[in-house]
Amino acid sequence: MKIPSKALSQEELFAQLESFRQNDLKWREGRAWGYVYDAGREVEDVAKKAFMMYLSENGLDPTSFPSLAILENQIVSMARDHLHGDEDVVGNFTSGGTESIILAVKTARDRFYAMKPDAGQAEMILPISAHAAFYKAAHYLGVKVVQTAIDPETKRADVDAVRAAITDRTALIVGSATSYAWGVVDPIEEIAKVAQEHGILCHVDGCIGGFLLQYYRRLGEDIPLFDFRVPGVTSISMDLHKYAFAPKGASVVLHRNKDLRRYQIFACASWTGYSIINTAVQSSKSGGPMAAAWAVMNFIGDDGYMRYAQEVLDEQKKLVAGIKAIKDLNLPVEPQMPLIAIDSDTVGVFHVIDEMKMKGWYVQPQLSYQGHKPCFHLLVSPSHRGKAEIFLEDLASAVELAKDQPESELAANVKEMFGQITPDQITEDVLQGMLGMAGIQGDGLPERMAEVNEVLNSIPTALVERLLTEFMNDLFTPTK
Ligand SMILES: Cc1ncc(COP(=O)(O)O)c(C=O)c1O
Repeated sequence: MKIPSKALSQEELFAQLESFRQNDLKWREGRAWGYVYDAGREVEDVAKKAFMMYLSENGLDPTSFPSLAILENQIVSMARDHLHGDEDVVGNFTSGGTESIILAVKTARDRFYAMKPDAGQAEMILPISAHAAFYKAAHYLGVKVVQTAIDPETKRADVDAVRAAITDRTALIVGSATSYAWGVVDPIEEIAKVAQEHGILCHVDGCIGGFLLQYYRRLGEDIPLFDFRVPGVTSISMDLHKYAFAPKGASVVLHRNKDLRRYQIFACASWTGYSIINTAVQSSKSGGPMAAAWAVMNFIGDDGYMRYAQEVLDEQKKLVAGIKAIKDLNLPVEPQMPLIAIDSDTVGVFHVIDEMKMKGWYVQPQLSYQGHKPCFHLLVSPSHRGKAEIFLEDLASAVELAKDQPESELAANVKEMFGQITPDQITEDVLQGMLGMAGIQGDGLPERMAEVNEVLNSIPTALVERLLTEFMNDLFTPTK
């Protein structure tokens, strides 16, 4: 494909842009239980207007665009207040949870090397429910991950396991409020106490929960402390593009004080061009996401967020009760957030997901990991208001239909062939062969994904990761 030799008219190009979206998730209708946190048209319109106002301002240099420093300081100030930080707490705006997490890990790593230059490679303790973004941060930053167990019943970090994993190379301990997979708050007070006793930093991943949980607490839900009121918590990430309903590209990372935040900042004057001083990973960046986040927070306001929280909580409770009433489905744990994991001992959850897809619903699969069963996941947002009843009806019928689906022979064969494969045996041929066997070739996924998910669920994690890498490597092939 070449740049068109003659320009397209606006009409033509916008028609094309629209047509590309035809197979996207239909999130506006409240039938997609993931990916989009939709607070309705009015909020969306405000966000878009503010975004467009600041689209071209460049966050690379807040001295040239002081408006962006004003926006960032106001957003961080609101976030600090929300998380009960005192006047010493500082922070920055970032593009999302992953960037906030990368910066928290960088801070811990650089502090560790400054304090213990001879100790060896920095380590980070991650309960297995901590988000994948920490693994990405570890991978990018050369930090060693030390995984710890979660309690099989409560799905919360096991504090004794965390304590036992500490070495003189531990730079950071992580707890989640809440975890994505289970929607439960780790015992942050205990984890932070252990960290403090050892002089180790403690990061709370409040990317998905940090904002909403404060409202849930005020609504009378039993939410343990997880924020800066907890001694020993040294940093918190909190996404605004989740339950604060800002458009994508909006998160904050906060530190207990400036002495810690210093390790987050990157400065470079060692080249022939302009000096760089970055608080975050991105350099040049649109002011749009920040202006939109600021506008949405001000437009919704505390009372508006309380109303949204109440609505989402009501829907969550209806769903939880309704799911408990479906005989073949289980809740592995009672969620503290509108994040509901559902598993089963009697029916294949991946078939239930497919049957729900046939009925026009999107629910997200979660593979089994270290003995925790495969399940599917609902993320409830305000656009799901009033949807619980019809969703539950369809879910009950999907469970019955899923019972008629045959067990996957392919998954059984793959398990037999590759269930014990070691990372060094994973060759290109193995990967391509497996993608072919699972029916994943070229540009699309099969309509029914149960078999693919069962295959992924039956092979070692290292092979899953390699297969997914191959898949992405093929998906992003330039258009002919
Ligand atoms: C607990 C938690 N942490 C981190 C992230 C990563 O956030 P993002 O996708 O904005 O990078 C998520 C995303 O859902 C999350 O739920």
